[in-house]
Amino acid sequence: MADVFIDRVKKSYGSVVALHDITLDIPSGSFFTLLGPSGCGKTTLLRTIAGFHKQDQGSISVAGEVLDSIPVHRRDIGMVFQDYAIFPHLSVRANIAFGLRQRKVTRADIRTRVAEILRVVQLEHLADRMPHELSGGQQQRVGLARALVTRPKVLLMDEPLSNLDAQLRIDLRRELRSLQQDLGITTIYVTHDQEEALEMSDHVCVMYQGVIQQAANPWTIYHQPANRFVASFVGTNNFLPVELKDDVPCLCDALIGHIDGLPADLGRTQQVASIRPEHIELQTGTTLWSEAQPSGQRSDYVHFPATVHYQSFAGRELRLTAGVADGLEVQLITEPHHEYLDLAAQSPITLRVRNDRICFYEVGETGVRL
Ligand SMILES: Nc1ncnc2c1ncn2[C@@H]1O[C@H](COP(=O)(O)OP(=O)(O)OP(=O)(O)O)[C@@H](O)[C@H]1O
Ligand SMILES: [Mg+2]
Repeated sequence: MADVFIDRVKKSYGSVVALHDITLDIPSGSFFTLLGPSGCGKTTLLRTIAGFHKQDQGSISVAGEVLDSIPVHRRDIGMVFQDYAIFPHLSVRANIAFGLRQRKVTRADIRTRVAEILRVVQLEHLADRMPHELSGGQQQRVGLARALVTRPKVLLMDEPLSNLDAQLRIDLRRELRSLQQDLGITTIYVTHDQEEALEMSDHVCVMYQGVIQQAANPWTIYHQPANRFVASFVGTNNFLPVELKDDVPCLCDALIGHIDGLPADLGRTQQVASIRPEHIELQTGTTLWSEAQPSGQRSDYVHFPATVHYQSFAGRELRLTAGVADGLEVQLITEPHHEYLDLAAQSPITLRVRNDRICFYEVGETGVRL
């Protein structure tokens, strides 16, 4: 069992504060992903856990043991790098054996353990090749084997798939995930690819400017973003201003119905609503949905009139850009019914969104809170 506890860690490079005040509790055996845009501090946090950097404040422990004064090579942590970082002059087998030799493992044990890990990463047939005779995906497997062969308590991976082509990335995501589950090794994975993060992880920690924005399971990150930054960074969202009309909060000229937990001051301070494209439903024509709310009555939906601006048929789905009130546009994704495909530009349509699918944020809220 090796849970990782990061307790109020701060790290600066001169005047650049790379990590503000990071506290994370990473459960043993989980696949935990640090997700965020370039420069948000992902690599810094990973390298601090590995021991390549010393934090300015705070402490890091693995399985209850405080690591702060333990040097890199004694931390029992495996690391896989973006650029493979394998030795070009050593064969696959020798690359993998390297860490074991340093640890003075016996020759017989080295042979057994290297053979075992070659099997795990499916490289047995390439054991005697040199790195330049391997594809990028194969080199990355060597990097992974090298990190795993010492049987570390924790595996750190810094964008291990980012130098690979699209299809291979997708294949390796599944492979990495199932390997991690088989081994049960606590894994901290870095990516700036939100789809990769959602697909692979038990927990996702979204970072921005050295500050944790939200740490939760992928479902919560996607459906209940903690702030506007998370809502815009993870997946696609439409952002629409909330306005007061006759003292009632409205979205695109339509009343916002009853929503549990609706901010009491909705519309009174400046707010913006976010709606996922796949949560907007479409009806052709201008007649509202049959159960559209008679004015003033309770409805589970917000309905608003729109016009078609642009649509593209992508086989499985139809993507549509629609104009709504005040010259704003929304993107929506729906099943490609025939009647939708025939919609010409400027056709009138009606859109509806379930009230409970709408999230609200303060205008100007970037997400960073220091
Ligand atoms: N050695 C260094 N010296 C000075 N500043 C650094 C150093 N390394 C990183 N930084 C700065 O610290 C911040 C965090 O960098 P970091 O490499 O951790 O980001 P990242 O999230 O891994 O980004 P990317 O997705 O581009 O790899 C950035 O502002 C970066 O410019
Ligand atoms: Mg990085």
